[in-house]
Amino acid sequence: MAVAKLLAAVLLALAASCGAWEVKLAIEDDVPLIHMLRPLLGSGGHLGRRGRVPCDSWRFAVETNTLRGWRTIPARCEKYVGNYMLGGHYRSDSRAVVDEAVAYAEGLNLTGEGKEVWVFDVDETTLSNLPYYAEHGFGAEPYNSTLFGQYVKEANAPALPESLRLYKRLQSLGIKPVILTGRREDKREATAKNLELAGYVGYEKLLLKPVDARVPSMEFKSGERKKLEDAGYVIVGNIGDQWTDILGAPEGGRTFKLPDPMYYVG
Ligand SMILES: *[C@@H]1O[C@H](CO)[C@@H](O)[C@H](O)[C@H]1NC(C)=O
Ligand SMILES: *[C@@H]1O[C@H](CO)[C@@H](O)[C@H](O)[C@H]1NC(C)=O
Repeated sequence: MAVAKLLAAVLLALAASCGAWEVKLAIEDDVPLIHMLRPLLGSGGHLGRRGRVPCDSWRFAVETNTLRGWRTIPARCEKYVGNYMLGGHYRSDSRAVVDEAVAYAEGLNLTGEGKEVWVFDVDETTLSNLPYYAEHGFGAEPYNSTLFGQYVKEANAPALPESLRLYKRLQSLGIKPVILTGRREDKREATAKNLELAGYVGYEKLLLKPVDARVPSMEFKSGERKKLEDAGYVIVGNIGDQWTDILGAPEGGRTFKLPDPMYYVG
């Protein structure tokens, strides 16, 4: 029975990899597919030869912050990453992170004085840009700030469902969300509008990067967290899809890393 299920999942994954990509958002689907076993069986090249590891090994190295500074996903991994993102795997990886974050938050001793906050990133954390990336090779195309900027201005990105679940649970516990993003101030209106449309209401602050700031993402974000602490807030948690969201003191009481195999922010 288990074998039959696995075979069915593999067949589904292979069938999905043969057709043209459908540009639709499938992260609502609750299909526990085991994606793309095929790269393990040969076409991904040999373990140990630099740059030719199977795509799931490449993704592991990316998510653990071992591979850094990469500009695009390997061209051969476009279908793998597409399968990962559009199938059930991205959603279930996100769910594992949020389940742990919710359990952690529920176990906190809160003061009830309204100073406890939780820091959320925006792109691939509160909001999903999968509609954009599905049309741009899931990270196989180099980042184009003009095109992505136009997409951001549309303010039409859906919520990551698991992140929205965490957001609402934190609010019900009395922990206030603070949104901290590397998006710049000229995107404030579009970002605020998009967050509201996606269901993120009632946050404490929306912090964006100044338009002319040259500071790297990690320094900007840790600096903003320091300002929050100096203002008397207690950062009980911090969640993002990039390591630059969660590294750099003060990190917050505990950090949570969401998956993102599509791009790297240095
Ligand atoms: C919360 O407070 C209770 C009562 O003071 C204590 O027993 C418990 O260990 C505390 N939990 C944490 C996670 O600090
Ligand atoms: C970004 O995309 C636009 C529109 O396709 C194109 O004209 C421009 O050259 C691209 N920019 C870069 C840096 O690739």
